[in-house]
Amino acid sequence: MSFLEIKDLNVHYPIRGGILNRVIDYVYAVDGVSMSFEKGKIYGLVGESGSGKSTIGKAIIGLEKSTAGQIFYEGKEVTNRRRNLKESYSRDIQMIFQDATSAMNPRKRIQDVLAEPIRNFLKLTPKEEKKRIIELLEIVGMSEEALLKYPHEFSGGQKQRLGIARAVACNPKLIIADEPVSALDLSVQAQVLNFMKDIQSDFDLSYLFISHDLGVIRHMCDEIAIMYKGRFVEMGTREDIYQHPQHEYTQRLLSAIPAIDPLSRDERKITRQKTEENYRLEEANYYDEQGKVHPLRALTPTHKVALASLNGEVD
Ligand SMILES: Nc1ncnc2c1ncn2[C@@H]1O[C@H](COP(=O)(O)OP(=O)(O)O)[C@@H](O)[C@H]1O
Ligand SMILES: [Mg+2]
Repeated sequence: MSFLEIKDLNVHYPIRGGILNRVIDYVYAVDGVSMSFEKGKIYGLVGESGSGKSTIGKAIIGLEKSTAGQIFYEGKEVTNRRRNLKESYSRDIQMIFQDATSAMNPRKRIQDVLAEPIRNFLKLTPKEEKKRIIELLEIVGMSEEALLKYPHEFSGGQKQRLGIARAVACNPKLIIADEPVSALDLSVQAQVLNFMKDIQSDFDLSYLFISHDLGVIRHMCDEIAIMYKGRFVEMGTREDIYQHPQHEYTQRLLSAIPAIDPLSRDERKITRQKTEENYRLEEANYYDEQGKVHPLRALTPTHKVALASLNGEVD
């Protein structure tokens, strides 16, 4: 059973222009996206920069207004509901960003940075609060020494850990992680990812993991949505997406992953050429006349693809 559902979500930003500053067009940042979230699963959202990934995350937590569509949390509609300290929805869904420090007040010590969500959402005595903060530091593998320090005194990886500690402070159900390791060195990326996985299984959390990096997504996610120009081109399990990609956009993203194994480079080149060829032959099956992605169709119970027709014939 899913605890969170988004239905046909749209976020269109008006573009103004002319001397009268009228709305002349819209950016279709998110354009008819549906997705549901079950407890304990890691969802991946992947696509190139500007495809609308962050906007989906922000619309879910209410940082951006949706222009159409609905969001349901535990069966109740919460679309465009303002973040409200009294609502469980605001407590249960947390978001972390690429730059963890942007969400931290640079003049606050870590003990106060971590106390913020606790004071907002839980009623604890000062003693209980301190205990919880130390517990949070332990969860993210840091010691009490951090308490009196300021955010700038930490490395990128440590800051991301502190960001995660803050996100888990009030036992959320879902953490939306928007490119959480993209700003980190490769060696640190792996550490932070593994440790996010540990936290996920320890607390039976769900993640919506947003990344442009298909390698990271494969490492982390059970279910994956591929996004292009505000729409989903394909959704499925990790196996559906990586072993049986159907949409040419997915295939192109996959064939662009740099090869670590030099033997497969030639094979990849051939795959890439085939993909290009296939694309020219079947363009109409992948995009409509305006270049828009078609609606998703179910290929199997887990796998959906945005094709004009599933057998390749376009009418
Ligand atoms: N506040 C805004 N006003 C106008 N356009 C925006 C705004 N925020 C994002 N966009 C546009 O919406 C599209 C999707 O952006 P975003 O969700 O940030 O993509 P991603 O996270 O996949 O890189 C982009 O074309 C971006 O320029
Ligand atoms: Mg983004």
